[in-house]
Amino acid sequence: MSDSTAHPDEPTTPSYAAWVDRLIARHFQRDHGELVIEGCRVSDLVGQYGTPVYLYSQAVMAASWQQLRHVFPEPFRILYSMKANPHPAILSFFLERGAGIEIASAGELHGARQAGCLAGQMVYAGPGKQDVELALALQAGVGAIHVESLGELRRIAQLATSLGIRAPVGLRVNPRLASAVGSLQMGGRPTQFGIDEERLESVLGELDRLTAIDFVGLHLNTGTQLLDAPTLLAYYRHALELAQRTAARRRQPLRTLDFGGGFGIPYFQGQAELDTDRLAAGVGALMAEYAGAAERSTTEYLIEPGRYLVGPAGVYVTRVVDVKTSRDQQFVVLDGGMHHHLAASGNFGQTLRRAFPLAVLNRLDQPADRPVTVVGPLCTPLDTLGKQLALPAIEVGDLVGIFQSGAYARTASPLQFLGHPSPPEVWVAGDTARLIRRRGVWQDSLADVVPPLI
Ligand SMILES: Cc1ncc(COP(=O)(O)O)c(C=O)c1O
Repeated sequence: MSDSTAHPDEPTTPSYAAWVDRLIARHFQRDHGELVIEGCRVSDLVGQYGTPVYLYSQAVMAASWQQLRHVFPEPFRILYSMKANPHPAILSFFLERGAGIEIASAGELHGARQAGCLAGQMVYAGPGKQDVELALALQAGVGAIHVESLGELRRIAQLATSLGIRAPVGLRVNPRLASAVGSLQMGGRPTQFGIDEERLESVLGELDRLTAIDFVGLHLNTGTQLLDAPTLLAYYRHALELAQRTAARRRQPLRTLDFGGGFGIPYFQGQAELDTDRLAAGVGALMAEYAGAAERSTTEYLIEPGRYLVGPAGVYVTRVVDVKTSRDQQFVVLDGGMHHHLAASGNFGQTLRRAFPLAVLNRLDQPADRPVTVVGPLCTPLDTLGKQLALPAIEVGDLVGIFQSGAYARTASPLQFLGHPSPPEVWVAGDTARLIRRRGVWQDSLADVVPPLI
């Protein structure tokens, strides 16, 4: 397998290191050049749990929750989008704060229930929901199924009829408005997500005839990794207008209006944080503007963030196995890489591949002025985490950490590739750390192999 173009191949400068420094200072501490997460030194954590490992800071997660609550105060309902990180400890953390959960499969339905989420506090969205999954969700009593197509709506109606129930259904709308900045766009253009706004009128007409469908409202989830407050606010205004028109047509308020997730976090040098004060002011102004509309008097507003809530809390920590020079370029080879963190290798949706925030966690006080290429242990050039990064002089045994690794990292990675054990996950709270997932033993999966007949 080889694709020499597909890796983070933008050389960085010392300003990359300065940017990573600021990001570290935003969420973590340091002591004598070493990363400290809450009250725990990273060397102690890896001494106990080994590398590679995912470390999650409870305090950072709590701060992210507070930040979003500031933008979307009660009575906004926050549904944690568990695809970002489905670990039960993370689900419980947000459930305890009053969140519901946004699920995307029967597996996630199961995981959310196991974590203690009532089915009524879940919303089920995503393309390609199978009949068996829909039936499970209906029988469990999920709060709403957000349909992505007319075909899906009709299948749900049939299933609900055969189950002798009415199915709570929201329509996910693919709005006319195009996202200007989302790197993984989900709206405004032809897509598998949602019903085109141009077809909404006719689908609402069909809804009127489908008696097994209990229409609850609309859902717009138009992008991910959105860092621009005005873009998000433009979506929200559009959603409110659409909700108002739909309510007027049906002569009753929608029960729910789901503004989706998509709140971004900075991954690359030069990216600024989402301006939550600006977003909060804009959301407040929109709420005031639409408060008088009779059509929305009883409408409940939802958001379903994933990345924003968990991304900054996670650090993926690896150890340097080898340092080598090839034709005047220095390579640092880690004990973890793309199989644990596909996104950091630039292979998960990035159009322009750039290095994630990465630092030598035991040399934070040393000048970052040596250009090195940082790679994982896989037999493919795709497993490159940064090319020509400005880092301190690195030795075998050093710890290299990738920040912003709490979301779409472990869960969105090809963990089985090349048979390395999957990394453990560790929850850090104050000066205590708790193992929340053991290191996987790859050989275990051999138990599933059907032996050949001869
Ligand atoms: C329907 C839906 N809701 C919420 C999310 C969460 O998005 P994010 O993690 O960008 O907030 C996604 C992400 O793909 C999604 O598809």
